[in-house]
Amino acid sequence: MVIKKLLVCATIGIALTGVAAKGAATTCSIKVNGGAYVADITNGKRSYLKCAACHTLPRGEKHRVGPNLGNMFNRPALGATGYKYSNSFRTKAPKWNDENLDDFLAKPSRFTPGTKMVFSGLSSQQERVNLIGYLKSATGSGGC
Ligand code: HEC
Repeated sequence: MVIKKLLVCATIGIALTGVAAKGAATTCSIKVNGGAYVADITNGKRSYLKCAACHTLPRGEKHRVGPNLGNMFNRPALGATGYKYSNSFRTKAPKWNDENLDDFLAKPSRFTPGTKMVFSGLSSQQERVNLIGYLKSATGSGGC
């Protein structure tokens, strides 16, 4: 009897989780290179695995090798409190938006020569768009 009740609870739990997942936004519009692209946030989350060793996303989490990216689209340039940016970054880092982040992620060392972010870049425009959508939603920045 107890086991049966547990099974019913588990089934309802799974069903509810399914509904919640379906209700969440999975795409949003990102404007880069003079065009509007559709970001697939689920794919963006997958791409983020390339970044996760060095960054955290929810606001207030710890810095790793790279700064926490919480609220990254709304904070001022060099806005990760208590993080020690490189000298190169201090001379060339903007307040982030779709356009400049797209540029940065394509090839960080071209955007900010001398940056200590050791990452070669993402050559696919669609992958960058997906990732920007995911970053907006997962950093609490709004807009996705
Ligand atoms: C090997 C570690 C590493 C990886 C991998 C990495 N980053 Fe970084 N990232 C850094 C470091 C270090 C900095 C600080 C750069 C500096 O001060 O020169 C940084 C800076 C940044 C910034 C600027 C933050 C700010 O406060 O202005 C963004 C945005 C960013 N990274 C996004 C990403 C994304 C998205 C990915 C994955 C595609 C990624 N990074 C992959 C280490 C990394």
